Amino acid sequence: ELVPVLLSGGSGTRLWPLSREAHPKQFLPLLTEHTLLQDTWLRLRGLPGAEAPLVVANEEHRFLVAEQLQQIGVKPSALILEPVGRNTAPAIAVAALQAMADGSDPVLLVLPSDHVIRDEPAFRAAVLAALPAAKAGALVTFGIVPSAPETGYGYIKAAKGEGVRPVERFVEKPDLATAGQYVASGEYFWNSGMFAFRASRYLEELGKTQPQMIDSARAALTGAKRDADFLRLDKDAFAACPADSIDYAVMEKTDAAQVLPIDVGWNDVGSWSALWEVSAQDATGNAHRGDVMARDCRNTLAMGERRLIAMLGLDDIVVVDTDDALLVAHRDQVQQVKDIVAQLKRDQ
Ligand code: GDD
Ligand code: MG
Repeated sequence: ELVPVLLSGGSGTRLWPLSREAHPKQFLPLLTEHTLLQDTWLRLRGLPGAEAPLVVANEEHRFLVAEQLQQIGVKPSALILEPVGRNTAPAIAVAALQAMADGSDPVLLVLPSDHVIRDEPAFRAAVLAALPAAKAGALVTFGIVPSAPETGYGYIKAAKGEGVRPVERFVEKPDLATAGQYVASGEYFWNSGMFAFRASRYLEELGKTQPQMIDSARAALTGAKRDADFLRLDKDAFAACPADSIDYAVMEKTDAAQVLPIDVGWNDVGSWSALWEVSAQDATGNAHRGDVMARDCRNTLAMGERRLIAMLGLDDIVVVDTDDALLVAHRDQVQQVKDIVAQLKRDQ
């Protein structure tokens, strides 16, 4: 059995003003007519053995999640609501415990709900290729050939070989100098943030470093209340859970990590320039959505649905128009959008 676990908890502040706390990026149709969350499920169509997904989301977003899943006709086996965010390690622990509630021990395919994957058949083939190692007890991650010393990613040093191979070292979010060395060495992959492992194996490995997390997750699930299609975790129990990511809590420390390098057109759309890179572009590099008129522009991204956007003689500019805010930025500065969001929060 293979149980997809869809994680929806991030807030995606670097895609402001489209992405908001109340409406983060996984709920946006950034590249296709479907939202990133919907595409996360849709790209699994045709994956042999995939069962109904387990979805773990913040309770604030329950109606968005439920509606977006319903729109594409998917009924999760459970839609688990977190009263507070405790990062990915507890979210996955809850999913693992829930998946084992019927006495089975399926392989979980843990998927962030806010990534883009261009080559879906290649992705499905990679998942199938990872399954034997996952069934045998490995914690398998999918590695991406790095293209820049990004500090927002995990870095994986893989043993030599073909296909799924042992992880020699996993370093989550190194500083810039270290990331630069890793990329230059040619020996490291980025961690894609997607994982395949048996539910029991994840809990075993997590228990070695964060046993209290498992106790809290179990208590939160035991005290959970069914509410329509939702499974609401017990608030006090989950609030008492330590917060940490799977990367720090498990992947950096376990001896059971393995990596499968993949080439599937993966992108985590962490910024407007990342979205521009993966978007369809015209001959001069412009990627436009909505009603956009552009003359003599190169390498621009423009998005807006409400009114005409007209652009003249611009290079490397990002324009994102929404009801209450308009962003105009240089493509090289889009990482700083998160500073604007922080400033707005302070000024509130
Ligand atoms: N349910 C739930 N609850 N989901 C969460 C929570 C939470 O508390 N926190 C984060 N998530 C979801 C996010 O929505 C996203 O889909 C996924 O889990 C990963 O979380 P991020 O917060 O986006 O992690 P990251 O981007 O900083 O780092 C991870 O992804 C990188 C690749 O994009 C790590 O796995 C890195 O090692 C990796 O390189
Ligand atoms: Mg992310």
